[in-house]
Amino acid sequence: MTSAAFPAFEYRGDTLHCEGVSLAALADAVGTPTYVYSRGAIEAAYKAYDAALAGVDHLICYSVKANSSVGILNVLARLGAAADIVSAGERARIALRVHPDVDAQTHPYISTGLTQNKFGIAAAAARDAFRRAAELPNLDVRGIDCHIGSQLTKTSPFADAIARLCELILSLAGEGIQITDLDIGGGLGIDYGKDGDTPPPSHGEYGSAVKQAMAVLGDHPVRLLVEPGRSIVGPAGVLLGRVLYNKDNEVKHFTIVDAAMNDLIRPSFYGSHHPMRPVTRSEAAPRKTDVVGPICETGDFLARDRALPPMARGELLAIGAAGADGVPLSSHYTTRPRSAEVLVQGERWTVIRERETLEHLVRGERIAE
Ligand SMILES: Cc1ncc(COP(=O)(O)O)c(C=O)c1O
Repeated sequence: MTSAAFPAFEYRGDTLHCEGVSLAALADAVGTPTYVYSRGAIEAAYKAYDAALAGVDHLICYSVKANSSVGILNVLARLGAAADIVSAGERARIALRVHPDVDAQTHPYISTGLTQNKFGIAAAAARDAFRRAAELPNLDVRGIDCHIGSQLTKTSPFADAIARLCELILSLAGEGIQITDLDIGGGLGIDYGKDGDTPPPSHGEYGSAVKQAMAVLGDHPVRLLVEPGRSIVGPAGVLLGRVLYNKDNEVKHFTIVDAAMNDLIRPSFYGSHHPMRPVTRSEAAPRKTDVVGPICETGDFLARDRALPPMARGELLAIGAAGADGVPLSSHYTTRPRSAEVLVQGERWTVIRERETLEHLVRGERIAE
């Protein structure tokens, strides 16, 4: 059965599949650890935003920060997505990022819209910044931008931020400064499958809240830009790992897998929860275990005290909701080559990034004379 936390992954017979591809067969062919993404889930997530914002002039700028693999960017580009990127050089058409002092009610590390955060210009100071920019001959001030945080599970922070930016747009219009692009930053949070967590609102609820908050603009012509990242690729990807070893000590059981904190750092960095399923379905009673990698760090864990059926050495584990911020935050820590990435479409799959080899690790290094 698929679930919100594993939308494109379901058991067929006793084996977990991504669309029409067996994850067991995939692991045999490509090895582990490997990130596996469902193209269908990525496309469906993009289309859900497009449908939710129907009726307003809008542009969906996929947040490349969430996963910049070229094979993923290609899927989104083919759907007509624009991209929210970090780029070098001059950008003569500009938008100014304002922090609207709205609490995104999310993890403090990914909350970015408050005065105490380092991002953007305070709403009060923004008016002067827009006036100054409007006087500069080489700048065409088009847009106003904010991003109040990631993994938002309520629509009200979006609505509050939009209300503040719309107020600024209308007041600048009164001074003859026409802002035509309203960029409201990242998109919805996702379901990480943790008991007790608030599930994110639907795309429909998000779209209605955005449109309602923008209604204050009346006839003022504005194009809406949204920069969803996590919700486009997060649920579409799993990290596939293989059990290396089981260990018991006086107080705990450990399941040691070949995927580690260098592959997926979110659990040790943010304390994030990722849903997990054995690739081969098991009816055995679950027991609590710490799922850990083989790196010599206590912080090298993927889950703590997780109820999972016992898994023998060699069995495969799918770590879900891993499509966003998995590969971009991966590293060579403890001289580990980075994982492969595979994109699945129906019965077909493509290695969109090869597993690194030891040569990748030393490429570009020199020994001093
Ligand atoms: C400026 C900006 N836009 C968009 C995003 C994407 O946000 P999300 O992944 O929550 O949709 C981020 C993520 O941190 C961001 O910093």
